Amino acid sequence: MKKDKIIFFDTTLRDGEQSLSHSLSPLEKVDMALTLERLGVDYIEAGFPLSSEDDFRSVYEIGRQLKSSVPCALARALPDDIEAAYHALKRSHHFRIHTFVATSDIHVKTKLKTSWENVVDMAKKAVRLARKYTSDVEFSCEDATRTSFEHLREIIEVVVKEGATTINIPDTVGYSTPFEFGNLIKKLKEKTKGLDKVILSTHCHNDLGMAVANSLSGVANGARQVECTINGIGERSGNCSLEEIAAILHTRKDLFPFENNIKLSKIHRTSDLVSRICNVPIQPHKAVVGENAFSHSSGIHQDGLLKNRETYEILSPETIGLPGHKMYMTPRSGKHVVQHKLSKLGHKEKSYNLSNIYKKFTKLADKQGQVHDYDLEALFWLGNEGEEFYTLKDLTVTCGTNKTSKAKVALSSSGHIYENKASGLGPINASFKAIKQIIKKNITLTDYKISSKGRGSESIGQVDISILFEGNTYHGRFTGNDIVEASCRSFLQALNNGHRAEKVSMKKIENEMNNKECYI
Ligand code: KIV
Ligand code: ZN
Repeated sequence: MKKDKIIFFDTTLRDGEQSLSHSLSPLEKVDMALTLERLGVDYIEAGFPLSSEDDFRSVYEIGRQLKSSVPCALARALPDDIEAAYHALKRSHHFRIHTFVATSDIHVKTKLKTSWENVVDMAKKAVRLARKYTSDVEFSCEDATRTSFEHLREIIEVVVKEGATTINIPDTVGYSTPFEFGNLIKKLKEKTKGLDKVILSTHCHNDLGMAVANSLSGVANGARQVECTINGIGERSGNCSLEEIAAILHTRKDLFPFENNIKLSKIHRTSDLVSRICNVPIQPHKAVVGENAFSHSSGIHQDGLLKNRETYEILSPETIGLPGHKMYMTPRSGKHVVQHKLSKLGHKEKSYNLSNIYKKFTKLADKQGQVHDYDLEALFWLGNEGEEFYTLKDLTVTCGTNKTSKAKVALSSSGHIYENKASGLGPINASFKAIKQIIKKNITLTDYKISSKGRGSESIGQVDISILFEGNTYHGRFTGNDIVEASCRSFLQALNNGHRAEKVSMKKIENEMNNKECYI
């Protein structure tokens, strides 16, 4: 038997954008729409063309560029709105017009200040007009969850008769609960004429934190379209979040045996792009896409995870496009985790005394709360720092508007001075190139972060760097007023750590050959 399909209707660019403190440019919107298309959403609500010239242009441009996702434009149940939606989308091969009117007493009487009969008439005429332009028409009863059941049934029967192909039931103010919302969908399906021929849709807001649960309850009771936004952005507390619905449908196929077109592996990068373009940071504990969603800090959890990741992970980070989970090293982390981290940093078990390092680790963890990879590396070398393999002796950079950035570096190593010049995309890029050319090893920069320490103009820059060298990851950190110099010193610190690790493993091989233990 063919499985039912859940249609993903994304409204990040309409309901989501509506809530931002600044509006997005048409270019930014097109960029986001193409990313949503790559994610596999079925419908993209691109905007509300009558609201502004920019919105009209964005909808037009998005409609022109989409190939597999269907573009949709919002229109109130008014002729001018529907004409604007049509003109913005008429060049698209297939498009949807989404028209709506408020149906609850509070909205009809105090916002629209009209009669119920007039609302039904507006809806009827709007759907009739939209059907002249496209065979794909969605109708929404705004504030449906606070509308009397009889009114809902009446208006839906009218618009279905006029040719609406999708009926959307918004919980506009996030007032409903999962049990109640599911029952509403079920009752509508049972008692409304014509609903068996159209798609029933959910559009839940998150005012009481139930948008995702309400949408799922709708799905469980017969809705086949979910309206949602990336990261759950939207009016007030936001909308149902796309990534959470997609992750639930994937993880709980046993409860929701439906197909959908979302490519889960693109979730992380889509969420990141939306957060950056919209300038809306994601809360660390946000389900699926928060910074901590795949981080583990309790010792018991970390131990379980190292034995079998399914003990504490119901969804793997790789599924949503992340390279892996994170293990935070805290006072609660056990020896296993420290050993695991050290091996990731390239230090093989026999090259150190785990009990000694663990003692130093717990002291530092108690003091700092959290121990970072670079702290662990520093602990590893404590008392055995030895010589620096490379030291920065001199650095000169030139850069500026319309200028190629150039760097001249001098490094000292084993009593020799090496000088080199390079140009690059910016002063840091040029300096790193010059250093790499001196060192002549295969090094990949895998992470680079600058953060400011202190306040205002007095603050200084801290540069944290990770490099991949001979198959292992090494870290460097340096703080200073000049961020180009701090970057070079941080880069060299990472390289020096790599060289030390290389030297230790050489020593270990020699000692193994002489049958001796080698402990740092
Ligand atoms: O929340 C809502 O009711 C809406 C409608 C326009 C669908 O966004
Ligand atoms: Zn909404």
